[in-house]
Amino acid sequence: MQRVFSGVQPSGDFHLGNYVGAFRQWVADQADHDTFYCVVDLHALTEEIDPAYLRGKTFEAARNLLAAGLDPKVSTIFVQSHVPDHPRLTWLLECTASMGELRRMTQFKAKGRGQETVRVGLFTYPVLMAADILLYDADRVPVGEDQRQHLELAREVAQRFNTRYGETFVVPEAAVPRVGARVLDLQHPDRKMSKSVESPLGTIAMLDGPEDIERKVRKAVTDTDGEMRYAPDEKPGLANLLALLAVATGRRPDVVAAGYTRYGDLKRDVAEALVEMLRPVRERAAALAADPGAVEEVLSAGAARAHEIASVTYARAASAVGLLPSTARRS
Ligand code: AMP
Ligand code: TRP
Repeated sequence: MQRVFSGVQPSGDFHLGNYVGAFRQWVADQADHDTFYCVVDLHALTEEIDPAYLRGKTFEAARNLLAAGLDPKVSTIFVQSHVPDHPRLTWLLECTASMGELRRMTQFKAKGRGQETVRVGLFTYPVLMAADILLYDADRVPVGEDQRQHLELAREVAQRFNTRYGETFVVPEAAVPRVGARVLDLQHPDRKMSKSVESPLGTIAMLDGPEDIERKVRKAVTDTDGEMRYAPDEKPGLANLLALLAVATGRRPDVVAAGYTRYGDLKRDVAEALVEMLRPVRERAAALAADPGAVEEVLSAGAARAHEIASVTYARAASAVGLLPSTARRS
């Protein structure tokens, strides 16, 4: 069975982009893959984040992954910092990746821009991400479009390591959905929907209720020519709505477009479809909120299983580069 690995940062509230671009695939992959899903709290430290906030959001993220439909009986669900092999392998991979290739990462350039100081961790972030993936011998990594470049880096680092030290890592493939891989901000269709709090009206939270969803979709920015067609480059706001309705109803965006003449009618149906798509997620979240013990158990079992696998991969990599195995007894 093929192995799947993916991760999400606990740095804010999950939104529609996360659900459509990533979690829907994560849930679907559970049917026929060996699936590992990780809340990447170490990645959240690459930018300023309050410690108490991070702690709370990490737990909430795990709970909301269960709400999104991950099944802990099938998937291994865990917190990155609970498995010490992630930072350990990162060092070996930092000694494999080059400054030049990290400097080319567009996410680093975008996040670092205009900041007075940039954390070293923000620069090496994609190497930690490569370690996440390679530790589990993942074949397939379901992510949104914004992670494609990071995945390419993970592949290159794996290949270079294998060439230099002998076959050690599985070279992973990105799995980016054909529609919905880049959900746009409803108010600023020139940028992706994100966890940043600057655009509350442009962002639909995964747990938003019907009124919020309807209001935000109604106010979504489109264009003024009133022409109903799927043209992501020329008409990004409209294309975004068509793509969302397509994903929620399992159709193609251009086919969806053919069924409408007025933007208002389309918006009404988009809102309704999103409400229905997210309804079971909200219901599960409410049930889980009443049972924090259940989430704790999932994370504890998840960390144990993840560590079992990751420690073997780490040992293989450490041995390959020539680190002397430790014979000290572990308590
Ligand atoms: P993040 O929230 O950045 O940790 O991302 C978690 C997952 O959601 C990654 O696979 C991202 O590619 C995906 N994702 C984040 N934002 C969007 C978006 N606006 N559209 C589609 N996918 C997204
Ligand atoms: N960098 C990813 C993001 O911001 C999150 C992530 C960390 C990830 N490690 C990963 C995704 C490993 C896939 C695989 O979305």
